[in-house]
Amino acid sequence: MERATRIPTTLIIFGATGDLSEKKLLPAVFDLYLKNLTPPKFKILGLSRRELTDDEFKIFTKESIRAKKPGAKEEDLSEFLKILNYLPGYFDQTKSYTAIGEKFLEFDGEFDECSNKLFYLAVPPTHYEKIFKKLAKTGLTIPCAGEGGWTRVLVEKPFGNDLKTASRLEKILGRLFDETQIFRIDHYLAKETIQNILTFRFSNVLFEPIWNTQFIEKIEFKFLEKNDASTRGEFYEEIGALRDVGQNHLLQMLAAVTIENPQSLSSSNLRDERTRILKAIKPIRGKGVNLYAIRGQYQGFRKEKGVSPHSKIETYFRIKLFIENSRWKNVPFVLESGKALKENLAEIAIYFKKTETCLCPPNSDEKHQNILKFNIQPKEGITVKFWAKEPGFSFNLKPQVLSFSYGRSKVKDKIPDAYERILYDCIRGDQTLFASTEEVRAAWEFITPILESWHRSKLHIYKKSSAGPKVSFPN
Ligand code: BG6
Repeated sequence: MERATRIPTTLIIFGATGDLSEKKLLPAVFDLYLKNLTPPKFKILGLSRRELTDDEFKIFTKESIRAKKPGAKEEDLSEFLKILNYLPGYFDQTKSYTAIGEKFLEFDGEFDECSNKLFYLAVPPTHYEKIFKKLAKTGLTIPCAGEGGWTRVLVEKPFGNDLKTASRLEKILGRLFDETQIFRIDHYLAKETIQNILTFRFSNVLFEPIWNTQFIEKIEFKFLEKNDASTRGEFYEEIGALRDVGQNHLLQMLAAVTIENPQSLSSSNLRDERTRILKAIKPIRGKGVNLYAIRGQYQGFRKEKGVSPHSKIETYFRIKLFIENSRWKNVPFVLESGKALKENLAEIAIYFKKTETCLCPPNSDEKHQNILKFNIQPKEGITVKFWAKEPGFSFNLKPQVLSFSYGRSKVKDKIPDAYERILYDCIRGDQTLFASTEEVRAAWEFITPILESWHRSKLHIYKKSSAGPKVSFPN
């Protein structure tokens, strides 16, 4: 692996002391840095409201890395901390941007040439508009490096709050950057196991011929978390589960399983196929929302810091949808996600139809179907449930499992964290694992009618550490 670029680069993190930066971003940049994949001349500038000095930000960063990587070596940490800088500032104040500009001059002076600038918005989407406008006004997005020089922007999901706000942001962003400069993050796209779905589907002869409505009964996508929203009450109260992970991670998992063969792994082919399938999802509207989009909230959510005591925000959802094309006609897809549940699990389960020619024991209640699972978390792997004869005189069937897992193998250590991959790809300018404008729009087109009608349907309260609301879809 080579360094992402040899041109000096400055990474600016808006929301540098926030949850995302602390838990994912800073540890990921540290890893990239250790692997010598960051540019040889590289600096990080953190910006947040908290009044910290450079040294205090370094302590914050060190602790955040230590929390995730207790084994990190002291000498590696102190090397890395040298490239960190901090500015306290407010996103809506011009003077914060003037201060950023001054820092750029200082850094570029040290580099002895103009650096590329990467703006990472690790902040809730409500701040995007003011940041974009200020960046435009202060001219910070104009590249100063010569040939091959750039400025880029990395934005976190959810991009906008609904279709309308996303389109508005798109317009503002479009005036500032062209599509090749905009990197819309959905870190699930950068997960190894999600990418593996494509190779599994299209590089093996076994499954692609039966990957359709003729052989598949249903597909379930689960993204369940034990964590509650106590450390992110304010963010969650604004966003809710469907915007947080439904509009993006779950729909991207759905796309990986259902797209047509993109013919190549080129960024434009993949993004076009993902958009096409998202556009083919049948909308759920009006009364359908109450029946096919179940929403829940865990008991005690309203007492979390930053949450209204009357909050109607969902911390759980389960949605049944259909895709309107010939491959997937009548196949139900169920998307489920929630916080404060009894387990941590991210998986995709594909249930095949029972074979018509089954030599199954008569009068058995068992469905004798094959189930293929992509396990995304906590254990990456793939399993196939199949049926074999029970040893002995009878012809009874017993379920067996074929499995593939990275387990504890050395290969597992080589898998980059999704945020490492995101930063690396953005610096080298590869947009394959980022959502395009059209993809984001297509996702909002499906999600927005549900959000708009949810206030008319019941919010099911569920117990913490349970399996979520005990409600089923109608048959
Ligand atoms: C984030 C969501 O995008 O993904 C969080 O905002 C969620 O609510 C997180 O906990 C899960 O990511 P991962 O990589 O830990 O599965």
